[in-house]
Amino acid sequence: MSNDIRFPPGFLWGAATAAYQIEGAWDEGGKGESIWDRFVRRPGVIADGTSGDMACDHYHRYAEDVGHMAEMGLGAYRFSIAWPRIFPSGGGRPNQAGLDFYRRLVAALRDKGIVPMATLYHWDLPQALEDRGGWVNRDTALRFAEYASVMFSALGAEVPLWATHNEPFIQAFYGYGNGENAPGRRSPWAILPAGHHLLLSHGMAVDAFRAARIPGAQVGVVLMIWPHHPASDRPADVAAARRVDGAMNRMFLEPIFRGRYPEDVLRHFARRLMRPPVRPGDMELISRPIDFLGVNTYTRLTHAADWRDPLAGARQVPPRGPTTAMGWEIYPDCVVEALAKAREFADVPLYITENGAAFDDLVGPDGQIVDAARVDYLRAHIAAARRAIDAGADLRGYFVWSLMDNFEWAQGCAKRFGLIHTDYATQRRTWKASAHFFREVIARNGL
Ligand code: FCB
Repeated sequence: MSNDIRFPPGFLWGAATAAYQIEGAWDEGGKGESIWDRFVRRPGVIADGTSGDMACDHYHRYAEDVGHMAEMGLGAYRFSIAWPRIFPSGGGRPNQAGLDFYRRLVAALRDKGIVPMATLYHWDLPQALEDRGGWVNRDTALRFAEYASVMFSALGAEVPLWATHNEPFIQAFYGYGNGENAPGRRSPWAILPAGHHLLLSHGMAVDAFRAARIPGAQVGVVLMIWPHHPASDRPADVAAARRVDGAMNRMFLEPIFRGRYPEDVLRHFARRLMRPPVRPGDMELISRPIDFLGVNTYTRLTHAADWRDPLAGARQVPPRGPTTAMGWEIYPDCVVEALAKAREFADVPLYITENGAAFDDLVGPDGQIVDAARVDYLRAHIAAARRAIDAGADLRGYFVWSLMDNFEWAQGCAKRFGLIHTDYATQRRTWKASAHFFREVIARNGL
């Protein structure tokens, strides 16, 4: 018996990033202010006091970064477009310098034979739109659809894979509910309106995509799907885990793929006087057929019933086994379970659009970074992806989060997820052992 684990021919191996986390150049090239540009200036909100002002300076160094991707043999690269680079004040005429930046990036990728996968929204709303209510305001969905159509006509044919949103759950619950992310609002009543308008904007963008009739291109969405386990088989804990699964996973999967919100979740929130502002026709728009689903998964969470938490009535039980630097349990079967959850709803090709780990990498005296823990993490999760395929998942690709260390939102630059190490003082990129490992995986199309 061989230990070889191979993937289907044509399987897409990639790495992922997001605009605010890597680009820097926050006020260059005519870019407008985003909610993250505003948020990071509030004292105390970013764990280590850093910001994305400069981040990896990718805006200026994209050519070098594409060079690293090519050397690694990446088949695809998932990046996001900063909406405020295109519409600095949220509407009006598109900013040519912003469009040109992404044109250059996409051309550089295609020149190296790397398939671009573009995400239209990875949480960096133009601040001007937040000033008018942000995602709580239904009009933001219309502005998003306009922005999406501009991108489809500018770059549609060059980008075969388009994702509307990245993890609308995080934007709605963390941006508007607990305030841990931009725009930093803390209002339970804002969560479901924000979530609904994010979903609505997804559907409107899908319509805009179909209207653009771009030959050979596909449109989908990227959702966070983490498995939620009960801390015990007591019915109360089982119900708690189901509530969290409802809010985090099904609240987005069910509208997109079945055109309705999950009943149990609606009932739960209605008791807290929270409801999505659904208008006639919205659910039809939200559930327009899409071509693929991107799944971001990193770990599982375990929950016990606890009504001191009024929102979900659940408390997270700390993992017993080994964790990453984020405190996330290392649980490779999250890939299998997340894809199984996706398949309960989605009958479309799937991608793992994010999977990876933060560790406190040490730079050796010789400058080498032997991130053995990340290599182990990736190996185990890639093997799990193969098990998911064997179980019947139509998995078409796997993207590591992330290409390089970057600005990890409220955690700041201290949390490092990269295959490539970023020295923020000099902007030097150094391959970690995991980058060499991933190059091998790609070359063999497996382990
Ligand atoms: C995901 C985000 C991504 C990154 C990883 C660690 O939720 O989409 O930007 O922060 O987590």
